Amino acid sequence: MAEAIQQLVLDTLDKSGIIQDTRTLTLPGYTEPAASHDAQIIILGALNSLSSREMITYTTQETLSHVLTSEGSQIALQGSHEARVWAALPVKGEGAPLTPKQLEERVGSEAAKVGQGRAFKNKWIGKEGAGLVKTATSIEDTTQLEMREVDSSGTLKAGEKELAELRKRKLIVQRKGQWFTVHKGSAFSTSIEKPETDLTTEMLTTGSWKTATYKKYNFEAEGLQSNGGALHPLLKVREEIRNIFLEMGFAEMPTSCFVESGFWCFDALFVPQQHPAREVQDTFYLSDPATSLPPPAAYYSRVSKVHEHGGYGSTGYRAPWSDAESRKLLLRTHTTASSAAMLWKLAARCRGEDEDTSADEPAAHPGGATHGERKRDDGFRPAKLFSIDRVFRNETMDATHLAEFHQVEGVVADRGLTLADLIGFMRVFFKKMGIENLRFKPAYNPYTEPSLEIFAFHPQLRKWVEVGNSGMFRPEMLEPMGFPKDVHVHGWGISLERPTMIRYGINNIRTLVGHKVAIEAVEKSPAVRF
Ligand code: PHE
Repeated sequence: MAEAIQQLVLDTLDKSGIIQDTRTLTLPGYTEPAASHDAQIIILGALNSLSSREMITYTTQETLSHVLTSEGSQIALQGSHEARVWAALPVKGEGAPLTPKQLEERVGSEAAKVGQGRAFKNKWIGKEGAGLVKTATSIEDTTQLEMREVDSSGTLKAGEKELAELRKRKLIVQRKGQWFTVHKGSAFSTSIEKPETDLTTEMLTTGSWKTATYKKYNFEAEGLQSNGGALHPLLKVREEIRNIFLEMGFAEMPTSCFVESGFWCFDALFVPQQHPAREVQDTFYLSDPATSLPPPAAYYSRVSKVHEHGGYGSTGYRAPWSDAESRKLLLRTHTTASSAAMLWKLAARCRGEDEDTSADEPAAHPGGATHGERKRDDGFRPAKLFSIDRVFRNETMDATHLAEFHQVEGVVADRGLTLADLIGFMRVFFKKMGIENLRFKPAYNPYTEPSLEIFAFHPQLRKWVEVGNSGMFRPEMLEPMGFPKDVHVHGWGISLERPTMIRYGINNIRTLVGHKVAIEAVEKSPAVRF
């Protein structure tokens, strides 16, 4: 169709030199000229395509035309109400007159109501007794004819007065329309060649490129918006926090194990086996597989002993040890499970398990607290480690709690570290995050002593809010790993969601994660700089 219309335009131009008014064209497959609005839209498509190849030029003329309302279209198809009333009635004297009720049954109540009055006025019908009959033997349904005229030409030859009358009857409405005057263009020809859009090897070898016509570049065309990937706000904040750790000389821990055993998540951290956090209300346990492989035997035995009977100066919990409890598989409730595994690895050299222990390094590490005195190398090397990863808790979900979230965790292991080192470190770290006002409150963790909750002053909320938890890991945890007594480890953790929500002014965590997240909001979320 599109090509046929283009051909029609070219042939008409070839014959007459100009197309004054595109409403006079008769489109292929039609018998009437294309005066309607829709036809002009189709013609415009053909004109644009030809003019982009400079085969024609055209100018646009604005018009006001008319189109049928749905009632108007129905009349164009079925006739006016009055004509339908007339058609339904018997000729006077030739059949039984119809009662108004019978008429309504034939033509519907709407047509019967509106049509009767007009039919009487036109003297098409009359009364006979209580019934209705035709009085005119033939009629001319002018309303239907007018509808058909408006439908095909957008106007009435009869003029504006008639149009206004039809508008009042809500059979037609005015619509802005357009038509076109077309001239030959600089590349006019009656044959439509499909212009080339690419230069191919074949065109080069055959030489056809010399005579081919090319589609013009459209420098005005806007490219498609590309759907690039976007970092989720949590990932942007994670990147900033990771950078702070890296610039403070921390190394990232591997934390890809979402599934841990009770041993690494709790026992290694000296969390008693009866601790409420280990109950199913707080922890998700796996059913298949339900138990872990055995942990390293010697370490396992030291851990179980310190729980049950004590040691390293501790009385222990003096409660019976359960191997089953230790072997249960679960979704880790904190990344401290990974920290424990990393610290145990770090202590390998102290346990004499790493051959590098005999390396020819100076006995006292520069970071160590040996006051210049050369000591036997016990294998210990200080470490600063961090992780930012996902943890799982069997929580009731609400605006600020989800069953999975992210923890940011840092641990520092060195000789002679004190609580002051931990506090000093946190002041530096939070300052880098833009938080300067900190307070510390004594708290309890089974694996740290002393433990501190960290509070920051929230300038918008104008109150102190808890931002994290920290402490010095207990000897009951470090010594079974094999660390020498003078090696102290401090650690602390914050959530990733809390600072992200504050940064982005989000107060419902479910707008950040879960099925209600608006992808567009993720794509448009600004970068974060601390
Ligand atoms: N694991 C603690 C928590 O889940 C955070 C923490 C890490 C505390 C290290 C002390 C030391 O809140």
